[in-house]
Amino acid sequence: MAGHAIASPFSRPARIKFLEASREHFHVYLRTPHLARIAAHELIDSSEEIVLQQYIRGRWQVTMVELTVIASLVRKRSPESIFEIGTFDGRTTLNLWLNRPEASMHTIDLPAGSPGAPDGKTPGMLIQDKVKDGKIEQIFGNTLEFDFSPWFGAQDYVFVDAGHGYQNAISDSRTALRLVEGREGVVVWHDYAVMPGVTQAVEEIMSEVVSEVDFVWVEDTSLAIMIPKTGHPIKLSNGLSGLKSAKVEVASGV
Ligand SMILES: C[S@@+](CC[C@H](N)C(=O)[O-])C[C@H]1O[C@@H](n2cnc3c(N)ncnc32)[C@H](O)[C@@H]1O
Repeated sequence: MAGHAIASPFSRPARIKFLEASREHFHVYLRTPHLARIAAHELIDSSEEIVLQQYIRGRWQVTMVELTVIASLVRKRSPESIFEIGTFDGRTTLNLWLNRPEASMHTIDLPAGSPGAPDGKTPGMLIQDKVKDGKIEQIFGNTLEFDFSPWFGAQDYVFVDAGHGYQNAISDSRTALRLVEGREGVVVWHDYAVMPGVTQAVEEIMSEVVSEVDFVWVEDTSLAIMIPKTGHPIKLSNGLSGLKSAKVEVASGV
């Protein structure tokens, strides 16, 4: 036994292998991804320095290449505000913060002990010192019910990585778009092209963005990214806009 790790049937490589086998046999189980692929080097400049900590990957976490792309993109865009949907142990939160400590940083996950909450890990355990110092705001709540409206239209970088079923993924994707509405904000999704619910949600939500953006899938990763064209803040279809109700309230209050 010595020297042989036993692969958990729920580990990410095992899941991917299972899903790929399912695609071959059942065709319908794994959705075929349609986003244009882009090489990581077309998106980020890998000669730029980034800081990474806790980079050895554990279960449920992004790969090292994904972490590098996520961190490099935050370094490149210098967002004023970052929102992560799905904290887990806080590994990606930490690396987002390390590469842009000036930004206001929020991250949300289910309260510890909720069904579906991080397996045995305290949510955000890797960022507790930053939370205590007020550098990162950790929020506990179910994203399907949580009121994100105080942050609508106020975020420059959103990372979506919470529930991966379709209902969660579409709801979190709508939230993400509302968070960046009116700003040249980017949204990064994890598990695109791996989890069918995420793949479907990302491809459906594209039609709600009416401003000029690119939706891309980064090669050799499961990252899908929405990037606005320079000078084109995110504009959403009327049905999705999270800002219009605030405007109506102002108008009716006059
Ligand atoms: C894949 S993990 C997140 C990994 C983390 N973003 C990272 O990069 O290391 C998914 C997380 O989403 C959380 N989650 C799942 N459904 C949720 C919901 N409805 N509301 C809030 N958090 C949820 C889980 O508790 C879990 O910690």
